[in-house]
Amino acid sequence: MTSSAPEDEKPMQQTVMQPMAQEPAVKQPAVMASPKMLERDAAASPVPETESEVVFSLDDLSVSYGGNVAIEGVTFDVRAREITALIGPSGCGKSTLLRSLNRMNDLIVGAKVHGSLTYHGVDLYGPKVDPVEVRRRVGMVFQKPNPFPKSIFDNVAFGPKLLGKRRGLDDIVEAALTRAALWDEVKDKLKESAFTLSGGQQQRLCIARCIAVEPDVILMDEPCSALDPIATAKIEDLMEQLKREYTIVIVTHNMQQAARASDRTAFITTDVGDEGTRIGRLVEFDETSKLFTQPTDSRTEGYITGRFG
Ligand SMILES: Nc1ncnc2c1ncn2[C@@H]1O[C@H](COP(=O)(O)OP(=O)(O)OP(=O)(O)O)[C@@H](O)[C@H]1O
Ligand SMILES: [Mg+2]
Repeated sequence: MTSSAPEDEKPMQQTVMQPMAQEPAVKQPAVMASPKMLERDAAASPVPETESEVVFSLDDLSVSYGGNVAIEGVTFDVRAREITALIGPSGCGKSTLLRSLNRMNDLIVGAKVHGSLTYHGVDLYGPKVDPVEVRRRVGMVFQKPNPFPKSIFDNVAFGPKLLGKRRGLDDIVEAALTRAALWDEVKDKLKESAFTLSGGQQQRLCIARCIAVEPDVILMDEPCSALDPIATAKIEDLMEQLKREYTIVIVTHNMQQAARASDRTAFITTDVGDEGTRIGRLVEFDETSKLFTQPTDSRTEGYITGRFG
């Protein structure tokens, strides 16, 4: 399976929030995907949750840019309502891997994904899968809070409005801000610019904006790296709340954060070839408690104890 960036894709932020032509499905604890559901305009039909259901299954996944392999041979499963952490030294391909989970690499010209990646059993890169619908179901929060230059209310209402929601926006916005643990702090100033918020509040607003379109999965790429310890602790508490309803995959450089907040951890490192080629490879994937106390690979131990990376 190969995917390359279509020439006519729109810029990342616009595309993330692209509409389906219908209202989003009512939030269910676990939303299974069928090939049909990921097609454009497809109807969501939630099915009952299963314990530890596999959401993403990666098998020998590789991503290259313009023919240069950035990361290869990645095999692991991401399970429902767990927090999966991706750790490893700078440049090993954590963001690249994260972006492959919601087809954001499609937006990078020259990016290609090889291997197998299924989402609820559906080939995520299958010909009938609509990347826009994928990005609604699999939302993303970035390293630097990136609210739109709009009011707090309009930031959260943005996605639902694009999805065609006209009624009930007040309730949707309140519910999303409440789930993002921000409602009490902003309920009296919803019409003020999002830029009047602190960095930590802006990041929670971005999380609210993400969950307002009822995703199934939230991807977070170093969501706390621009925040102070108190704001970081709030996001970590929030992640703990959110994982009751959502599956979370987080990239972090913060070992304590990975150890504290995640259920399973993937440690990736960079192999340097004879000719200086640098390729990211998965070294170890395990339950976080095991990986941080009894890693099976000496490279994992070296990294988590700060001896390299
Ligand atoms: N848009 C791109 N075009 C070309 N190469 C890229 C692109 N993005 C990343 N790469 C390359 O892919 C490799 C992995 O980069 P990536 O950003 O995924 O690493 P990372 O683990 O997230 O690093 P960091 O911890 O510094 O954020 C690097 O060699 C990088 O140069
Ligand atoms: Mg990165």
